[in-house]
Amino acid sequence: MAYPDTRLRRMRRDDFSRRLMRETVLTADDLIYPVFVHEPAGREAIASMPGVARVSVEELLRVAEAASELRIPALALFPVTAPEAKSRDAAAAWDDDGLAQRAVRAIKQRFPQLGVITDVALDPYTTHGQDGLVDDDGYVMNDATVEALVRQALSHARAGADVVAPSDMMDGRIGAIRDALESDAHVHTRILAYSAKYASAFYGPFRDAVGSASALGKADKKTYQMDPANAAEALREVELDLAEGADMVMVKPGLPYLDIVRQVKDAFGAPTFVYQVSGEYAMLKAAAQNGWLDERACTLEALTSIKRAGADAVLTYAALDAARWLKDAG
Ligand code: PBG
Repeated sequence: MAYPDTRLRRMRRDDFSRRLMRETVLTADDLIYPVFVHEPAGREAIASMPGVARVSVEELLRVAEAASELRIPALALFPVTAPEAKSRDAAAAWDDDGLAQRAVRAIKQRFPQLGVITDVALDPYTTHGQDGLVDDDGYVMNDATVEALVRQALSHARAGADVVAPSDMMDGRIGAIRDALESDAHVHTRILAYSAKYASAFYGPFRDAVGSASALGKADKKTYQMDPANAAEALREVELDLAEGADMVMVKPGLPYLDIVRQVKDAFGAPTFVYQVSGEYAMLKAAAQNGWLDERACTLEALTSIKRAGADAVLTYAALDAARWLKDAG
């Protein structure tokens, strides 16, 4: 009888040796918690994202406290703009007393050590739900939008944002924002570029959460977000954003795009973040609520897989749960 020369199962036999050879270890340090902030008092549940709510600035401070206690390094803020504050030119985006700006100031005042990341894009503020300014044909104008994004990013930086995160996919916006930050004495403000952001159908629940779904209607974002079929183009996007001064790059969504994450990390070695988006969260939640999947095991497996693919950190709506599970297990 012939026996195997190598028995890989030997190291898998016991927990101690499995732990010793584990290559990827997920910790709270890897997590960024996205939070939806709205004007009304209290919390408001989001139907397509069970367990996630829109919160007031006051409630946001409770969220920040919970995240800090769990040693989550940073929050990413997403304001929900009241319909009457939306406009064609998205002027509310750079209102120094706007919701995003007030939310940033509130957190930085109470929890100065907690990283605050703001979303730079116009979709919460436009009546048409696009991430930029549109011409008469509804086409998103690149250079006019970049000027608006610069004003928005500067306003966030002045409010105290540690990281501005352009999620709009305009050409040249990273360089323009970097120049403006440098000239305005915000040399320490980091830029997390949504570099490889795909025109994905997995953003549906997010658009419900911020109320841009109804504004957008049947329109899509394919003239600026990337075609899910493309990989080489993602590398070109990342290369440009790094050359223009991005400190971190992002691939978004997560699980369906892990090949892109690996290629980006291998090609550039830059801090590479992944957004496990609303639709990915909703799929796991729905299956778990039906008793079809084990929520904790599947969530931790998905997050570990994203890290294994090359991500340095993950934006995830499951950040608080994951950090608690990791703490309980530790
Ligand atoms: C918009 C923005 C989107 C997300 C983050 N910023 C949606 C979009 O591009 O339509 C999606 C996040 C998610 O689905 O969780 N600038």
